[in-house]
Amino acid sequence: MAVKEQLLLRILKQALPYLRRHRGQVMVVKLGGEIAANTEALRSLAEDISLLSHVGIRCVVVHGGGPQATELSRRLGMVPTLVQGRRVTDDQTLDVAKMVFAGKINVDITSALRTQGVQAVGMSGVAADILHAARRAPTEITDEVTGEKSMVDFGHVGDITSVNTGVLSLLMENGYVPVLSSLGSDGDGNILNINADTVSAAVAADLQAGKLIILTSVAGVLADKQDPDSLVSLLTVGQVNEALSTGAIAGGMRPKLAALARAVATGVGRGHILSGLQHGSLLLELFTRAGAGTLIVREDDQAAHRAPSTLPFGARTPMTEDAAREVAAPEAGAPEVAPPPGQGETAP
Ligand SMILES: Nc1ncnc2c1ncn2[C@@H]1O[C@H](COP(=O)(O)OP(=O)(O)OP(=O)(O)O)[C@@H](O)[C@H]1O
Ligand SMILES: [Mg+2]
Repeated sequence: MAVKEQLLLRILKQALPYLRRHRGQVMVVKLGGEIAANTEALRSLAEDISLLSHVGIRCVVVHGGGPQATELSRRLGMVPTLVQGRRVTDDQTLDVAKMVFAGKINVDITSALRTQGVQAVGMSGVAADILHAARRAPTEITDEVTGEKSMVDFGHVGDITSVNTGVLSLLMENGYVPVLSSLGSDGDGNILNINADTVSAAVAADLQAGKLIILTSVAGVLADKQDPDSLVSLLTVGQVNEALSTGAIAGGMRPKLAALARAVATGVGRGHILSGLQHGSLLLELFTRAGAGTLIVREDDQAAHRAPSTLPFGARTPMTEDAAREVAAPEAGAPEVAPPPGQGETAP
């Protein structure tokens, strides 16, 4: 057999235990606005999601739309304000959020999925009481750089008070893939803008999803956010909470990590952050040993036991994080298969 064919076979066989493990699971996939705005990235991601749903994984797509909301606000002569990755939403910005999140982006994603043979159904969290929220009271915020404290009124920004995923389950059971934008409402007809990372975590927790996968514009959590090569490939919930308290995590990465830590602590199997701009990263993350981004696990997860017990944030460990991840995978309890020749030690 030619070398190329052997390699192809090996890759396919490496995917087998993951295929068996993931089948029938619910996965919540959140994508950031930058991915939805990039036609090529969106097409590639829609192919990946199509593959997942065709192998029996039940997917819910949740999306943000930060860059598009910022762009439309600017076009309308407004000055967008973000505090720690969350958008200050006045009356006009709420209109922009409705137009962009529940409008353009939602339709674009639904259409990209439809093109790849996925029966996608677009909706916002206002539908069927999916996201019930309360307006956030003015909050004291500590500036990431100066350490200065100030009161911030986020406007029409909601904190989720309850989640009703009934309609999402109904759709998934019937072969549809829900595409959810991050607007919710309170009981009095007020529409509220909710951070899409936070929404994805609440939805994943309510569905007790096997995975919450957050796709963004960077490779994953970076120990040094200026250095794209400083990817941290495995973190426990405890390490995430520690990292959040040190200030190593800034801007839009904060709500992501907070959301993932909460989701994993409340019953979601595992959390992932990876690039949605890199071709095929979702499939690599789910179906190969090395993975592609940052994996977030509970401390009692088998992967956490096998990883170095302390992973100082911002410093390299003697074992590279990628190596740790290699040892950690595949997921705890993955079915055993014979390893391909020459790969005995770390094989499933
Ligand atoms: N330690 C870190 N590692 C990685 N990224 C970081 C870190 N600290 C801050 N960031 C920033 O977080 C950003 C990702 O969040 P952002 O809110 O911009 O996008 P998103 O959430 O994917 O999209 P959307 O807001 O449209 O849903 C990265 O582009 C990066 O600049
Ligand atoms: Mg964001």
